[in-house]
Amino acid sequence: MAPKEKGPLLNHNGRPYHALIAEQFDRPLLDRIVDTATKMRKIGKTRGGMKFLQDLLSEKRAMLYFAQPSTRTFLSFYAACQILGIQPAEVRDARTSSEVKGESQEDSVRTFSSYFDLIIMRHPQGGFAERIAWMLSGTDRPVPVINAGSGKDQHPTQALLDIYSLQRSLEIRRGGLEGAKIAFVGDLLRGRTVRSLSLLLRHYPGVKQYFVAPEQLQIGSDILEKLDAAGMEYEVTSDFEKVLPELDAVYMTRIQDEWDQAGESGAVDITKFYLRAEHLSVLKEKAIILHPLPRRHEIAPEVDADPRAKYWRQVRNGMWVRATLILMIFERDHEINSYYEDLMS
Ligand code: NCD
Repeated sequence: MAPKEKGPLLNHNGRPYHALIAEQFDRPLLDRIVDTATKMRKIGKTRGGMKFLQDLLSEKRAMLYFAQPSTRTFLSFYAACQILGIQPAEVRDARTSSEVKGESQEDSVRTFSSYFDLIIMRHPQGGFAERIAWMLSGTDRPVPVINAGSGKDQHPTQALLDIYSLQRSLEIRRGGLEGAKIAFVGDLLRGRTVRSLSLLLRHYPGVKQYFVAPEQLQIGSDILEKLDAAGMEYEVTSDFEKVLPELDAVYMTRIQDEWDQAGESGAVDITKFYLRAEHLSVLKEKAIILHPLPRRHEIAPEVDADPRAKYWRQVRNGMWVRATLILMIFERDHEINSYYEDLMS
């Protein structure tokens, strides 16, 4: 089944049930996530508000199954669970699970579904979270699954927080995300955050995407075909300095060399794709700089102090966006709206 057909099946009542692929999010859903996350952030500023949030899903338990390294995604999901009163548990190393006794990954996950109400998972295999979600749907205890990064393929929740960060920052700076010029820079071949975000940007008319990378690490043709089909404008280039002055947002990424077969990316000169302090003078005053993190050398530390650097705020946004997503999965997001309206009246 094509992702386009699969997408709507993953949603119930206009909300995500499983959150697995970027293709399942349409514009009304994205707008709703951005709006709810903003309201939740505001509610969370007071003790009373925090107590209200912590009661919303206090009857639920979540399993964070992370079979790949993670700092931010893991912790932001963990914190998102805490905000909503969900009790999180974790398996971060398959070597400590019964998989070492020869249990299949499917059986391990089915065990999680016996104890928990939600499974949040990161896995090196592309499509694994999807496979698990379908497998669970056929059991007598289906629970929602969130994809927290699958192989080189997709990272839809990172893309949601990236949309939130772009939308919020560009709203103030240029009146919105529509029509913005956004460059992805670095390892676009294996960067799953870029692949998911690029697909979400199809819902924002007039956005032009630039794929700035060495030839060997350029974006996959599957993504470009989808942009073509949606009539989106894009440019594929290896000339970072040429495009830099045109941009409203620059999305930096690191080399994903954990996917190398034999150290091949070591032979690529990636230094032409670094954002250095001297580049700040050619970047628009109202532009923003994002990065899914972790970074290596692709953004010079001196850039951090520039008001256009938004990557640390992006990290914090992740917690609120993920809390929103979880709340929507359990169809409890309308309670945010009513609480917020009371707060404002
Ligand atoms: C990204 C990932 O895991 O794909 N990290 C993250 O979730 N913020 C990006 C990366 O590892 O480079």
